[in-house]
Amino acid sequence: MSIADQGVSNQTKSIRVDLGERSYPITIGSGQISHADIGQYVQGKKALVVSNETIAPLYLQSVLAQLKDKQVDQVILKDGEQYKNLDNLNLILTQLIEQQHDRKTTLIALGGGVVGDMTGFAAASYQRGVPFIQIPTTLLAQVDSSVGGKTAVNHALGKNMIGAFYQPQAVIIDTDTLATLPDREFCAGMAEVIKYGLISDYDFFQWLEANVETLMQRDPDALGYAIEHSCLNKAKVVSADETEQGVRAILNLGHTFGHAIETFQQYTGLLHGEAVAVGMLMAADLSLLSGALSASDVGRIKDLIAAFCLPVEPPSEMQADDFMALMVRDKKVLDGQLRLVLLESIGTAVVTADFSLQGLEKILTKACHR
Ligand code: NAD
Ligand code: GLY
Repeated sequence: MSIADQGVSNQTKSIRVDLGERSYPITIGSGQISHADIGQYVQGKKALVVSNETIAPLYLQSVLAQLKDKQVDQVILKDGEQYKNLDNLNLILTQLIEQQHDRKTTLIALGGGVVGDMTGFAAASYQRGVPFIQIPTTLLAQVDSSVGGKTAVNHALGKNMIGAFYQPQAVIIDTDTLATLPDREFCAGMAEVIKYGLISDYDFFQWLEANVETLMQRDPDALGYAIEHSCLNKAKVVSADETEQGVRAILNLGHTFGHAIETFQQYTGLLHGEAVAVGMLMAADLSLLSGALSASDVGRIKDLIAAFCLPVEPPSEMQADDFMALMVRDKKVLDGQLRLVLLESIGTAVVTADFSLQGLEKILTKACHR
């Protein structure tokens, strides 16, 4: 299936996340930071842009240029997953209080998933909730973290352990920002794109297999299609289950393993998307053990992950016991029972506690002793 066959083009697209009074648009296109009319989502006289020291020099001025009639304050955070914590959240809240932002203020997240998750949580908690806008600048944030209202900071003992479900007013995706994204970060974002193919969209999985080269070249049409398709998949799941009472948990394929890796490395080792890639393969291995996937299915998944230059093995310093110790703290644990997202086929996921613990230990031991 080529992109032309699918009738894809790089025009501006709009997707609605359907959540009743909390519904909002996702706008996807080239030049959105300069042309999307960000001001329409800023109702009061003040706004606070949160970004980081890498992204602000690249894109902050374009955002500010659109908000000349507002008082816009800024918080520029240090760059890195290790700064996604309560101390840095406090910098945002302190700025809001010091600059006397009231309940009509709007927070604007300009950056990747770290900035987006932290800004969203600041918006959820400041004066019990103020509006916020997501302007995601990484592939991962454009296809996943900016959509759906999961906001959080990490704790030394566990990833995203402190947070809230809190939806933005709008998600503005400027695909041009991907031009400055380092290759490793681009590939990390592809892990979450592959995830949608695995959990709910076999046709998309096949399309990804057929378009690795074009995507790796960052062809604008191919990327636009992958971003739009990912957002459509995510919006559908989020609209069905905003606060993860059920089906939304499939979006966490590979995350229980991946979060264990990130926490073990204290958020300074594998990138989130890389850890998820390793975790998705572990979930596929366990699904093979239970007979749901074939060895050839797992081979295809591994090949696609590797084709996007993503890791397929856990960090060499981790043992099976390290995984088990951290996985029991996962947010999907209910009444002390670990639940995992497993695959019934490529394109169908299930959230289940119905797997053998010995099987889990077996695949972890195999992955860690190579
Ligand atoms: P990130 O936010 O750390 O960004 C990755 C790197 O790219 C950073 O160094 C950043 O400064 C840089 N960067 C961002 N945009 C750039 C650009 N356009 N040009 C050049 N450099 C740029 O990481 P991420 O992968 O975007 O997000 C990962 C985070 O997202 C994790 O904390 C994860 O837990 C979270 N997440 C949340 C959800 C959710 O639903 N809320 C979903 C998935 C992931
Ligand atoms: N990334 C998982 C979710 O949004 O639910």
